[in-house]
Amino acid sequence: MTVERLAAAMAQGEAWGCNTTSNSSSLLFKTPSHGDHYRPLLHIPAGFSFLLPSKRCRSRLILCPKMSSSGETSFPTVTTVGISFSDLKDKNSDLSMKIEEGFGSNGLGILSVTGVPGYSSLRKNLLHLAPRLASLPDEVKQELEDPDSRYNFGWSHGKEKLESGKPDILKGSYYANPILDKPTTDASLIQRYPSYCGSNIWPSSALPELEAAFKALGKLIFDVGLMLAYHCDLYVSKGMKIHKDGGLESILLRSRCHKGRLLYYFPAEKGNSDGFSMSSWCGWHTDHGSLTGLTCGLFTRDGVEIPCPDNAAGLYIRTRSDQIVKVVYGKDDIAYQIGETTEILSGGYLCATPHCVRAPQGEEAAGVERSTFALFMQPDWDEKLHFPEEVRIHNELIPSNALLTFGEYSEMLLDKYYHQK
Ligand SMILES: [Fe+2]
Repeated sequence: MTVERLAAAMAQGEAWGCNTTSNSSSLLFKTPSHGDHYRPLLHIPAGFSFLLPSKRCRSRLILCPKMSSSGETSFPTVTTVGISFSDLKDKNSDLSMKIEEGFGSNGLGILSVTGVPGYSSLRKNLLHLAPRLASLPDEVKQELEDPDSRYNFGWSHGKEKLESGKPDILKGSYYANPILDKPTTDASLIQRYPSYCGSNIWPSSALPELEAAFKALGKLIFDVGLMLAYHCDLYVSKGMKIHKDGGLESILLRSRCHKGRLLYYFPAEKGNSDGFSMSSWCGWHTDHGSLTGLTCGLFTRDGVEIPCPDNAAGLYIRTRSDQIVKVVYGKDDIAYQIGETTEILSGGYLCATPHCVRAPQGEEAAGVERSTFALFMQPDWDEKLHFPEEVRIHNELIPSNALLTFGEYSEMLLDKYYHQK
């Protein structure tokens, strides 16, 4: 399907999900309707991202009060809403206000967790391995590729496409499930859902440290993500009935198909015009799954950590009222973003995050590498998802009150947005 056809389809459905009369999306502040979604790119990790037009029906914006104008970028800079680890791990804490401020209908769909014990060193351990991985000989990296999973396990470089349609050679990725090395041995499942059910590949000779570092950081981000999911469920349950064991925490805890992605952005060359686009490093998209954990990027030159050479570089988010803001959080914080599946299942009480990544520009950016890590937490392929009566995203595909497995739902999206291209 071409972008034009998608645009036409989207235009046809302009009223989808734009409910201005039903229950409020805000459980605490009684703000107006929830129903605004930006879907510039559907992101199913490794190779399934598409440029989609945005659809707007939200009537007003409340940015968090920490917003301030930055001298370095023409876009406002916003600090994420932060939750301390000590508050997060306390099941008796009332974090509803923070959850709403970060993930609610007027939030940016992102918040950060501060003060996680052990996190800083695990982040550095793994991110410093990204340049070493990327600099392995090509024939070694080829051994680490997995075409059968559409490059959703092991090394992937140049297999995804940029917004321009050109192969994305700006970054290399390493994908693995940090929780389970082999989620299933069922050959039919592996064939049907190769990106979820495949097995990890580790460079046990070329870079043996990678496996332990990847798993340690991935597991920590997962564990903290579960704590956050618990508080998200408490928040959502104030506004809608959650099916037994159907909350975000339970779904994530049961899942066998979480996916970590170690990203390495190759150093820019002087005069590289690609660096001047808004979404130069990673195009506009929303994540497909439930919850994405993100580290702050690590900038290096020749393997040595340096400060980011361009304050305009980094993560950008499109707000519910179509503003673009730069989002910042501390290097020792873990950021979490809401994915589309959670937005749908929560009836819009938790909102997905349209985002992109801008590369550093200017003389100082030459030769600078960036390494980062994302953990895509998503339901098990076999998880039966109870879709609500009113589905606000992809409702041209998902019937009201549908009961579909996450695997079936993902296949429907891929069939429509990828295979029919
Ligand atoms: Fe993303």
